[in-house]
Amino acid sequence: MKQSEIIALDAKHVWHPCAQMKDYEDFPPLPVASASGSHIITKDGRRIIDAISSWWCKALGHGHPRIRCAVEKQMDKFEHVLLANTCNETVAELSARLAGLCPPLTRVFYADNGSTAMEIAMKMSLQYHLQTGMPERRHFASLSNGYHGESILTLAAGDCELYSSPFAAVLPRIQKLAPIRYCSGPQDPAWQGFPEEAWNKIKNSLDAKAEQLSAIIFEPVLQGAGGMLIYSPDLLRRLRDWADKNHVQLIADEIMTGFARTGPMLACEHAGIKPDFIALSKGLTAGWGPMSAVLCSEDTYMAFYGDYFSGKAFMHSNTYCGHALGAAAALETLKIFEEEDIPGQVKHRSQFLADCMKSVADSTKSLRNLRSIGFMAAADIVNPSTGQPYPKELRIGFKASQAALRRGALLRPLGDTIYFLPPLNTDNNTLTQLAEITEAALCESTKNA
Ligand SMILES: Cc1ncc(COP(=O)(O)O)c(C=O)c1O
Repeated sequence: MKQSEIIALDAKHVWHPCAQMKDYEDFPPLPVASASGSHIITKDGRRIIDAISSWWCKALGHGHPRIRCAVEKQMDKFEHVLLANTCNETVAELSARLAGLCPPLTRVFYADNGSTAMEIAMKMSLQYHLQTGMPERRHFASLSNGYHGESILTLAAGDCELYSSPFAAVLPRIQKLAPIRYCSGPQDPAWQGFPEEAWNKIKNSLDAKAEQLSAIIFEPVLQGAGGMLIYSPDLLRRLRDWADKNHVQLIADEIMTGFARTGPMLACEHAGIKPDFIALSKGLTAGWGPMSAVLCSEDTYMAFYGDYFSGKAFMHSNTYCGHALGAAAALETLKIFEEEDIPGQVKHRSQFLADCMKSVADSTKSLRNLRSIGFMAAADIVNPSTGQPYPKELRIGFKASQAALRRGALLRPLGDTIYFLPPLNTDNNTLTQLAEITEAALCESTKNA
């Protein structure tokens, strides 16, 4: 099919995610022919830098040869058999490896996307409390400005109205804690300690509900969809301490932060805390297949264990739970992370990525609030003449992304927040080129604004 034919057929039938479809009339979608490493290649042969790892999941880039080989080998055996009443070598070995990520969280439950993993963790927490003599614990609290997915329950746990407001009428009420104080990253002195007064406000709202809370939900250290905002790991230590004293569980949403995006394998490691549940997806298969996992401890698991008629079983099921192709990709991904010490590489190369964003800021004067952690760097677009944000109606971030795409980089700013979140193995030349493209795109989009 010709490029123009694909675009025409797409325009007629496809409803794209997270988009006002009218925008596609002026700015049609990229017709992808292939993808390799940190690049997407279009039908007409253009190489586009995937600066956001295809919605944060392509941790090791596109078409990684080892993962391809592992998936092909699995396909030769079988592609999918239900995980109820069956077991297989791939899922068993994967689970054993996942159990090593954050002991004592050594039990693994599988699903096929991040939102569902978060719902599973929330359901597990509620049912755990029902079955351990604490039925009054049926509420959740979550950090302000969080994002946990698009299902009704996870929209309620999140705090991003852009996605949740049309559904406000049916969202269960989930308490949002007092605003967080953010910092610019681990190099910022504010990273060392969460301010006492901000913590006291959070603690007060927790104290008021202490007896009814089942779990506290958070994205550890880095909030993604809420604007790529970073906070001190000290907040996580305080939450762990408070939760222990009050018999409340912690659910860490590591769907975006997991698999070394912030440096260590899990972002909770910055704080040295162990949550009660960890939700993983995205980097889990390095973006090779829809798969997610929830980790919990053997103690939690035992609250669901008993004779059939005790009714204690966790009766959640998804058709593609433990999908074999996803599991094969995830297993190989974990091996690569370990053998190539990807967290060590991220630690080593993190500054280069941050410097790329800084060079764009220095040359354009149209970025402020620079922040970075691991292999993520972000900043907010401002008017270079006034240093102030642009009115939202101007959609400067959107215009900058269009200008970048014309020049060869796929950026998807969050409003007017621009960020780099490329595959963790993106080479320095590509990062330098990404900075140059971003600089030119910002100059173009802010010139006559
Ligand atoms: C922190 C976080 N939680 C949950 C989700 C939802 O994952 P999914 O899109 O796979 O449902 C996302 C997706 O971006 C995320 O960033």
